[in-house]
Amino acid sequence: MKYQRRSLLKLFSLSILAPLSSTSCDETTPKKLPKVGLQVLTTWRHPIATNKALKSLIRGKSLSNAIVTGISHVENDPEDQSVGFGGRPDADGNVTLDACIMDEAGKCGSVTYLKNIKNPIEVARLVKDHSPHVILSGDGAQQFAVRMGMEKEELLTEKSNNEYQAWKKEGSTFSTKANIENHDTIGMLCRDHEGNLAGGCSTSGLAFKTPGRVGDSPIIGAGLYVDNEIGASTATGLGEIVLKNLSTFLVVEFMRNGKTPQEACIEAIRRITKKYDFKNDQVGLIAINKNGEIGAASILPGFFYSFRDQNELVVNEAVSYYN
Ligand code: GLY
Repeated sequence: MKYQRRSLLKLFSLSILAPLSSTSCDETTPKKLPKVGLQVLTTWRHPIATNKALKSLIRGKSLSNAIVTGISHVENDPEDQSVGFGGRPDADGNVTLDACIMDEAGKCGSVTYLKNIKNPIEVARLVKDHSPHVILSGDGAQQFAVRMGMEKEELLTEKSNNEYQAWKKEGSTFSTKANIENHDTIGMLCRDHEGNLAGGCSTSGLAFKTPGRVGDSPIIGAGLYVDNEIGASTATGLGEIVLKNLSTFLVVEFMRNGKTPQEACIEAIRRITKKYDFKNDQVGLIAINKNGEIGAASILPGFFYSFRDQNELVVNEAVSYYN
């Protein structure tokens, strides 16, 4: 596995000054890719989940299956405190989970504010495949999960509870800071040999959030969007910003209008920074198109993505708007 740190800030700022040409795009494209082959692109440093999803595709499983396999690995990991089991709780001490999945046929499933079910991505897939709906929320989502055979479990670990107790002791000051230390939502995009695309996204949301808060991750067009004719994109970071901008839908629309995934991610980040002064908050976007070209960009430095094809695994830092 290769870890590469990229310093593309200058390229990002150059691209802000002038419309992106195909030359500048080539310079900012994180990685040249083969035009065919299985591919998995994931937000943050998630090499094992990325590998697991690729292995699932190699075994001939569906794109949705690969996404559930990869994302479930992170949801099951108690050390990852922003996704699934072991996620940091809300201000009342409850772990509440959001997730969604969108497949190559445009079918979507989503759960919001789900409690006591370890794998919200699996429930999202069940919503997609076994319900006439797109989003199930709260108690209804939990009842649906149980009806579909999933077990209720305690999701608050000692480690996350200790952090919660410390936060309460320190005065319960809510912080919207969303970056790698507080927030590593997993968003995953998969592409098969034929260029079909699907994606998923899962999170426990902002640490110590207001009870009832739902972020971007389970909202189609905000945390995730897939158009099998064009490309796919998923987001991480402060959900409130992504929701206000429908950033992944925007990335796919930019690709539809001819931009590469890298150009599209940069343009969608630029759109955010034009409207709002978000110097302290992070948003990271990743994207893939039908040809298997990929892109990644963020507001602040420190956003990493993991990419895996059949040859190698690469973990890179994305180009960022601010230095
Ligand atoms: N991006 C995940 C969230 O804000 O909940």
